[in-house]
Amino acid sequence: MATHTIAVLPGDGIGQEVTPEAVRVLRAVGKRAGVTFEFEEALIGGAAIDATGTPLPPETLALCRKADAILFGAVGGPKWDHLPQESRAERGLLALRKELDLYANLRPAICFPMLIDASPLKRSVVEGTDLMVIRELTGGLYFGEPRGRESFADGGERAINTMAYTTREIERVARVAFDVARKRRKRLASVDKANVLVVSQLWREVVTRLARDYPDVALEHVLVDNCAMALVHKPTHFDTIVTENTFGDILSDEAAILAGSMGMLPSASLGPAAAGGRNVGLYEPVHGTAPDIAGKGVANPLAAILSAGLLLRYSLNMTAAAAWVEAAVQRVLEQGRRTGDIAKPGEKVLGTREMSDHVVHELEG
Ligand code: IPM
Ligand code: MG
Repeated sequence: MATHTIAVLPGDGIGQEVTPEAVRVLRAVGKRAGVTFEFEEALIGGAAIDATGTPLPPETLALCRKADAILFGAVGGPKWDHLPQESRAERGLLALRKELDLYANLRPAICFPMLIDASPLKRSVVEGTDLMVIRELTGGLYFGEPRGRESFADGGERAINTMAYTTREIERVARVAFDVARKRRKRLASVDKANVLVVSQLWREVVTRLARDYPDVALEHVLVDNCAMALVHKPTHFDTIVTENTFGDILSDEAAILAGSMGMLPSASLGPAAAGGRNVGLYEPVHGTAPDIAGKGVANPLAAILSAGLLLRYSLNMTAAAAWVEAAVQRVLEQGRRTGDIAKPGEKVLGTREMSDHVVHELEG
């Protein structure tokens, strides 16, 4: 029987509540598929700072390197916000992305028909939305040098971050995007700010050059401000979107609203595997730690569960099993099961555990 080692990193806030539910779902999948998953849990983020003093302990990194895939919760929270930049909880995730070279972040945003009314946007706008944001994840402002703060004699300060990209960094993420677009509706929007930023001018040139290898994919360039507007004005215009790190961070949160709730959005972060190398990937819900609801057992587990689905698809090549998970989620939604974030007034609201029970039940049934 095949055995897969999964590194489980719940992290902080609701990451600790939703990640165990994704593990339960994988166990159910394993039983049905005749595959054994070995789950090894490790500390990251604020939880790791509290226990070891650092947001990415060496043991955690070592476990992630040897695992077949990483199931990730969320990191950060008010408790660690006062820490200096380099030791904040978020640093654990950023360092992990960088160490594992997870440069392509796939964030699908689908408006499920039964959740249309959960979106604050009009039905006529969101209906039929099915898009994929591909965010570059290891470059740009997040990692560019120089960065830091300097003090002036007069007591003032200056802080710097640098947005920098090399041809190679742009090319490899764009290639992933063209490949993904090719398997979807063959439309790619490359998002930049080429009317102002030289980084974006290089971005646009490289993407345009690469497009020659993909004559079957229709490429358009969209300025980021215009894209932000178009996403809430006519989201069905988009199929696949590729953009740099910071723009992608912002646009993918915006896209989450098209899916009804942040609680519905999964993500996959792929490294060289995306180009056919060894298959290490990190799978995380986009919603973050949600300190306002953490510890209450009310968080929507579906983004974490759908992330486990992406893990099956992209890291383990278990395409049929991935489809089981997606179908199970779809069915519980059709049955009207709702957590607070996607419930309409008057609808029965389920907790994290109950919602997951239904998904597991569907998988076992
Ligand atoms: C995300 C998050 C992270 C990011 C934070 C937690 C560092 O917002 O994955 O979108 O900015 O990349
Ligand atoms: Mg974000």
